[in-house]
Amino acid sequence: MSTLKLNQAPVLVVGAGIMGMGIAQVAAQAGHAVLVYDTRAEAVPQAKQKLADSLAALVTKGKMTADSVQALLARITPVAQLSDAAHVSLVVEAIVENLAVKRGLFQELEGLVSEQCVLATNTSSISVTAIANGLKHPQRLVGMHFFNPVPLMKLVEVVSGLQTDAHVAQAIFDLAGAWGKTAVYARSTPGFIVNRIARPYYAETLALLQEQAAQPAQLDALLRAAGFRMGPCELMDLIGHDTNFSVTQSVFEANFFDRRFTPSLVQRELVDGGLLGRKSGRGFYSYPEGAPALPAANVGALPAQTQWVVHGSGTTADALAAAVSQHLGGKPASRAPSSDWVGVEVAGLQLRQTDGRPAWQVAQDAALKDVVVFDELPTVAGGVLAFACVGRADVPELAAAVLQALGFAPVPVADAPGLVVARTLAMLVNEAADAVQQGVCTTEGANAAMKLGVNYPAGPFDWLDRMGHARVVSVLRALDACYKGERYRVSPWLQRGALA
Ligand code: NAI
Repeated sequence: MSTLKLNQAPVLVVGAGIMGMGIAQVAAQAGHAVLVYDTRAEAVPQAKQKLADSLAALVTKGKMTADSVQALLARITPVAQLSDAAHVSLVVEAIVENLAVKRGLFQELEGLVSEQCVLATNTSSISVTAIANGLKHPQRLVGMHFFNPVPLMKLVEVVSGLQTDAHVAQAIFDLAGAWGKTAVYARSTPGFIVNRIARPYYAETLALLQEQAAQPAQLDALLRAAGFRMGPCELMDLIGHDTNFSVTQSVFEANFFDRRFTPSLVQRELVDGGLLGRKSGRGFYSYPEGAPALPAANVGALPAQTQWVVHGSGTTADALAAAVSQHLGGKPASRAPSSDWVGVEVAGLQLRQTDGRPAWQVAQDAALKDVVVFDELPTVAGGVLAFACVGRADVPELAAAVLQALGFAPVPVADAPGLVVARTLAMLVNEAADAVQQGVCTTEGANAAMKLGVNYPAGPFDWLDRMGHARVVSVLRALDACYKGERYRVSPWLQRGALA
């Protein structure tokens, strides 16, 4: 197939559900004549009326003009049967998530539309290669994976199956751009990009909950302080544990039960108990109340007249030095830049940024009695910061006092490897590195997809740059050494230091 142009081509959307109608809206907004078909005859007029109501609200708010809304709606036409749409150049399918039904639909369409017509599926979890199996022209089938709500979410994953023609993928990539979206190429593999790379965001929190390392409200607050819009627990409560669990389970099964994707018993118990989150009134939290306030940490007194030394070099050491200097009323902090750890030493107590090893192990390796490890620094001033201690009984209170004096809100958690944020970020990087190595996407594609598809504050390879390759690998190695198994094995791409 040579270069294809789909701009202004007539489009058929099949399925007038939440996704189909969103796709029809953005296509019509971009000027396409859009036909919509649904097996439930009443579905299309109903969905069109709902769309008209929501657009009318935008007119009231002054965000759209009445004329543009009228023109947009006039471009959307319900059709009673598929044969009424035989002339279209593009079909976007957004029907029930079922392989046999989707295959049947595309096979039927092939008998109606021209040989040049591009067939796109909005599937979020079914293999594009599998949907194309049985088509006369499987090379014209491509994934065009939108995110919900379609008019607002910028990302479209353009998913190629084994037989998808590169020109077809490119035409859909260009079209998504013309519709105001950012397109990212993906290879058809379980979860594509976003649903795959996002798994550790939930999985690490669920693992920490299972070993009682922290409370849901603490984990949420810590990950929000790292820049995420919602913490994992409140996000799972919003998505619904049934939905979130079934995505995890489908990625797990589709990867032949690779243990890296093992679903969590903590979440299964919530699902089994009907505690599905917001929609059932209770999940990790009860609603409408939501997350409880964080318990205050026990903060001891700082020893008077003590010396503060900032160890190590780099961004975190510099940030700590600035915080120490502010605490000392502008006096510069003493520095020990050649130390092989980053952190502060106060009254003989070392507070080290985690390199993945739990505090007990740092103490053992460095022949120390008392040690504190702390997490990635929060991105906002005064943000919460997790720490864990080993040693004498007053160490937690002293550590909390030191962290508070440096402008952080200390959150004591169990002595888990990689603590909370460092562990979560390292695992997101690890999954993204695997995806890149397996040709699912590029590093730029992964960054864009995670920022636009799930609103992450940065892409996984931005975090790799910020944390540094050595530290990410060190956190993963510490997790792997502690838990032994496939879950935390370091991606071969990262092991190579693959920054070519
Ligand atoms: P939905 O249940 O809201 O709508 C599906 C519509 O398709 C219904 O109106 C149904 O009557 C119609 N339908 C079912 N079988 C049909 C057939 N054989 N021919 C014509 N119409 C048929 O579903 P939703 O949420 O809009 O999802 C649609 C597709 O988009 C699924 O493949 C889903 O996995 C995918 N998707 C969903 C997202 C979401 O957040 N809901 C996000 C991204 C993709």
